[in-house]
Amino acid sequence: MFDSLGINLKWSAGCIVKPNTHFGANCRLGHNAFVRENCTIGDDVTIGANVVVENDTVIGSRTRIQTGGYITAFCVIGEDVFIGPMVCTTNDPHIGARPDLPNEGCTILDGARIGAGAIILPGIVIGKDAVVAAGSVVTRDVPSGKLVMGVPARVVEPDPDHLAIERREADDEAHDANCYVNPFDGGVL
Ligand SMILES: CC(C)(COP(=O)(O)OP(=O)(O)OC[C@H]1O[C@@H](n2cnc3c(N)ncnc32)[C@H](O)[C@@H]1OP(=O)(O)O)[C@@H](O)C(=O)NCCC(=O)NCCS
Repeated sequence: MFDSLGINLKWSAGCIVKPNTHFGANCRLGHNAFVRENCTIGDDVTIGANVVVENDTVIGSRTRIQTGGYITAFCVIGEDVFIGPMVCTTNDPHIGARPDLPNEGCTILDGARIGAGAIILPGIVIGKDAVVAAGSVVTRDVPSGKLVMGVPARVVEPDPDHLAIERREADDEAHDANCYVNPFDGGVL
């Protein structure tokens, strides 16, 4: 039964994990993180405080989702992705008017980084190593390695410093200080 939460899961007070969701090794869940059913989470994934991950979502190894992020159902998120605070993904192009039609989750490819508060519209693909500026509304697919910015988000030339690979050790240590190791399968703390 403990296999579904992986080994060495660290989680904080208030987390909820629904059934049939599987974590790899060494993941972290911040306070009040909520992960719904049928999700597959890789190794070393950080899901921050007050993040919601809806059902049937895949999150690749070493990806970090910061405080308050909303990951809608049927998203596919790659490895080494960084999702800033309060990022909002969406999956219903008809805003509730056509429940007969399927939802379209977002796809965020390996190494992409999404700035705080960005909104990603249904079915959008964010390319490998792409960057989305804070506060953008992403209405079109983002090409790999490009920076998009604004409402609606458009490709702009990046400052090369912003495409540098970040180090994550400091983040991880700070987060560990507030976590418990708790091999408990699918419950509330
Ligand atoms: C995309 C980003 C990296 C660009 O940074 P930058 O290259 O240093 O940009 P600058 O500050 O030099 O600004 C360049 C221009 O873009 C504009 N701009 C910068 N960020 C913008 C944004 N998010 N949305 C719209 N315009 C933006 C600036 O106003 C400036 O325009 P101007 O030349 O007309 O004055 C940065 O703005 C950003 O969004 N960072 C994300 C931070 C974040 O969310 N981190 C998550 C963890 S806290």
